[in-house]
Amino acid sequence: MKSNIVLIGFMATGKSTVGRKLAQNLDMDFLEMDEMIEKKAGKSIPKIFKEDGEIRFRELEMSVCKDLSNSKNSVISAGGGVVLNKLNIDYLKISSKIILLEATADEIYERAIKEGKETRPLIDKPNPRKEINDLLEFRKPFYEAASQYQVQTDDKVTSEIVDEIINLLKINE
Ligand code: S3P
Repeated sequence: MKSNIVLIGFMATGKSTVGRKLAQNLDMDFLEMDEMIEKKAGKSIPKIFKEDGEIRFRELEMSVCKDLSNSKNSVISAGGGVVLNKLNIDYLKISSKIILLEATADEIYERAIKEGKETRPLIDKPNPRKEINDLLEFRKPFYEAASQYQVQTDDKVTSEIVDEIINLLKINE
C-alpha cells in the first residue's frame, strides 16, 4: 500500500482533473475532498455555505481531513481552503505527500468563469476577479508552507503535469 498523494492549490488549478489521471497512472484510488464533504452534509457545497455558513463548511472539511489520516493508496484532490487550518494539514501529513498545483490569477479566473462561478461560493460575487486576486495573495504563503512539492500548471496539458508529478515523486523516493 502506498501513502496518499494530496493535491492542494487554489480553486480551478486542475486538482481534480490532474488527480483523476494521476490515480489512473499510478493504479491508486481517487478521492475528491469536496465530494466527501457533500456526502457528510447531505447537500451541495453552495447549499452548505448558504444554509449553514462557511464556519460549518470548515468544520466538515476538518472532519474529512481527520478521516483521511487513516486512509492509504489514494490520490486526493483537496478543496482550495484546506490550508487555512493547520490541523487539516497535520492530519493530511500523517498519511500523505502534499503537492501544490500553482497557476496565475489570470489562468485561474479564466478557468473558474468557464466552469461557472456559482459552484464556488467564495467567488460567486459581483467582482470575482478581485476575490481571486485577494484570496490568492492572502493564501500564497499558506499553500507554500503546507506543500512538500510545487508544480507550475500554466500553459501545460494534464498529461504533462501528471508526468511531472510522477517524476518528482520518483526522484524523491
Ligand atoms: C474553497 C474551494 C472549493 C470548495 C469550497 C471552498 C476555498 O474547492 O472546497 O468552495 O476555500 O477555496 P475547489 O478548490 O475544489 O474549488
